[in-house]
Amino acid sequence: MSVEDRTCLVTGASRGIGRGIAEELGEQGAEVVVNYRSSEAEAHEVKERINDGPGEAVLAQADVSNYDDVEAMYDVATEAFGSVDVLVNNAGITVDKKFENMTREDWDRVMQVNLGGVFNCTKMCYDDIQSADEGRLINISSVVGQQGNYGQANYATTKSGLFGFTRTIALEIASEGSTANCVAPGFVETDMLADVPERVQENILKRIPLDRFAQVEDIAGIVSFLASEDSSYMTGQVLGVNGGMEW
Ligand SMILES: NC(=O)c1ccc[n+]([C@@H]2O[C@H](COP(=O)([O-])OP(=O)(O)OC[C@H]3O[C@@H](n4cnc5c(N)ncnc54)[C@H](OP(=O)(O)O)[C@@H]3O)[C@@H](O)[C@H]2O)c1
Repeated sequence: MSVEDRTCLVTGASRGIGRGIAEELGEQGAEVVVNYRSSEAEAHEVKERINDGPGEAVLAQADVSNYDDVEAMYDVATEAFGSVDVLVNNAGITVDKKFENMTREDWDRVMQVNLGGVFNCTKMCYDDIQSADEGRLINISSVVGQQGNYGQANYATTKSGLFGFTRTIALEIASEGSTANCVAPGFVETDMLADVPERVQENILKRIPLDRFAQVEDIAGIVSFLASEDSSYMTGQVLGVNGGMEW
């Protein structure tokens, strides 16, 4: 069962995992709202690629941490496609430092985007998701939210925060037949991972039983499954997609 003709809003869809998810949903025939913050040219490429295939895409620039931006993004989505059936909260950032060097500003910025952005987008799309025929909320967390990670106290906090958020929304929308789930990727080959020093990457790789980093397609396929009716009876779950890393 595909996501054909479902409206899917993917935050942070200009690059990396979000781009992979948007393109996969487009490939399945979905109507995709491609959100980006600053990578306009890349976001255009994603839109073109989707429009060249069976799907349909519109662009929506918004900083997810800004409520007014998110409101404008929702207007773009509903003007184009009516309402949002599937929200993928993917946009996220890191500001890595050992806790002893982490400033309140470093902490707040990551909270504002990784959790504040999830609040803003979910708030805006909540009624649509709840009233949709099998609406879907899909939050992109991380194995770091499960394990913790050296130098990522702020990031790990936001990613484990998504577990409680997802579970709670799952309970609140369940009676309408809609679902909320989390995907917790391991380490995925994107710009975010490229920022991690080579030596640290080598150490991470030693802890991955499948002996490779994930590709964006590994995550996009799972999100596509969650967006489809095949996942109807699965809600409030955290799906680890991490090459077998223990946590
Ligand atoms: N890569 C990994 O190893 C990994 C592992 C587990 C979980 N994750 C999670 O997966 C998600 C995507 O990660 P990624 O590796 O694909 O990151 P990435 O390559 O750095 O791409 C980040 C994306 O998020 C967007 N973004 C950042 N801040 C934004 C904001 N305030 N408003 C709107 N969009 C914003 C960026 O948009 P612009 O470029 O347009 O600014 C970009 O499209 C994140 O939530 C991350 O925590 C990543």
